[in-house]
Amino acid sequence: MADLPLITPMPMVADCVLPWDGPVSDTVAAIGAARSACGDTFVIDSGDDRYLFLFSPVGLQSFYAVPEQHASKGIADWKMLVRKLPDELFDGRRTLPHELFTRPNVSGYLDALEEAISLQLAELSPGDEIDLFDFTRRLGHRMGLASWGGREILRSARFEELVAALDVLDGSEAFVAPTRMQEVAQSGKAAERAAMATAEQILADSIAARHSPVGDLLDMILERWADAPDAERLTGVARDVILVHIGSMSNLFAALGWSLVHLVQHPDVLARVRTSQDADQDLVTRCVLESTRIGQRSIMLRTVLEPVSIDDGAHTYEVSPGATLATFLPLTNMDSGPGLDRYDPDRWQGPRLVSPPGLPAELVTTFGHGPHTCPARPFSVTAMSRVIERLFDAFDLEALFDDARPRPGQIGGVARAAEPCMVVLRDR
Ligand code: HEM
Repeated sequence: MADLPLITPMPMVADCVLPWDGPVSDTVAAIGAARSACGDTFVIDSGDDRYLFLFSPVGLQSFYAVPEQHASKGIADWKMLVRKLPDELFDGRRTLPHELFTRPNVSGYLDALEEAISLQLAELSPGDEIDLFDFTRRLGHRMGLASWGGREILRSARFEELVAALDVLDGSEAFVAPTRMQEVAQSGKAAERAAMATAEQILADSIAARHSPVGDLLDMILERWADAPDAERLTGVARDVILVHIGSMSNLFAALGWSLVHLVQHPDVLARVRTSQDADQDLVTRCVLESTRIGQRSIMLRTVLEPVSIDDGAHTYEVSPGATLATFLPLTNMDSGPGLDRYDPDRWQGPRLVSPPGLPAELVTTFGHGPHTCPARPFSVTAMSRVIERLFDAFDLEALFDDARPRPGQIGGVARAAEPCMVVLRDR
């Protein structure tokens, strides 16, 4: 192993590896045990990398405040995703996902979301049995592709083929099923490359048929490629759409899945959502924030590029380039204060967590803090809220599952469910 980057003073080193480097069956248990043994600041040396984990309130404030030029989220994310995605998908991109969400209002994507939800609901009938996470995954494809791939893609004769290809490409497998990445590497990402070619071709055909702007997010992507020759332009736009879409599928459908699970499990809250007015006006928003909090399995990573000083409240660590700063949300989101292990949408006041009172903001994370806060938060909250309103307006959902557990090997994004969460749809 090459020399590992210096951290001075050196915190305790936990007896643990990360799941892309060795067997870890339950990531929350493994990193939780490391924290119990070593305290709120510790090091994990795993594979060729050295990770400085931070969990104290001051440590987390330092983590979220580090500028991108000093410790990069972009590079850390890329290192994770490139274990699954073909390298060429990252080359030459002209649209960064956060640039799509700079518009101050939601009108640019609302119609696309409504159409995607309508199509999905039209497939359902009373008596159907569905897995909530299958349902939200399919809907996540529809809502996302309609938003940045153009609404016309929903009517493509090859839409099912596109969804199947994107499910093979699925960058989130890098953190949902990290132990599978060695197999992906051994195959030379052959399945992923074939899936990317299929997705590219279907999207390019659909994009080529658009001859004038319609005022949506795809138009913004098309503008960036306006000067490129035709073939290069179509591939470029298709790849920009694919990368945004892969990013969106990290969290959105899973957070929506937990939102539905929790409402099925809490009929009292659901009854309030269905009749909510005035004081409860933003209840559905608070429900999605609460379910996102509980579902979070994100490991937050920053690759150190320049020497940085990180204060954790007890010590200031000088961290050398090459190290990775890290924190792991389930360990703070669920037990930083009394009652956080329970589902309670009323702990939110608007977008702020107010119960338990006085908790430093960084101890609970839904959409992030500081410079890297999720730019798609308004889009995602709107999308999830509209699905909840329209699905529960159309049907009653009767649970066929007793319990819903997160998948234990996952380390990143919002949790996928360990087992199917089946419900039967009933007429209202
Ligand atoms: C429920 C859905 C979502 C959740 C819970 C979520 C959560 C987050 C979190 C926690 C971060 C900060 C990560 C960090 O600091 O390391 C983040 C950043 C980001 N998210 Fe989301 N996200 C969601 C949906 C989306 C969607 C739909 C997209 C795009 C289509 C998206 C694109 C991004 C981007 C580009 C960043 C990085 C921003 C930057 O570095 O400046 N997210 N998200």
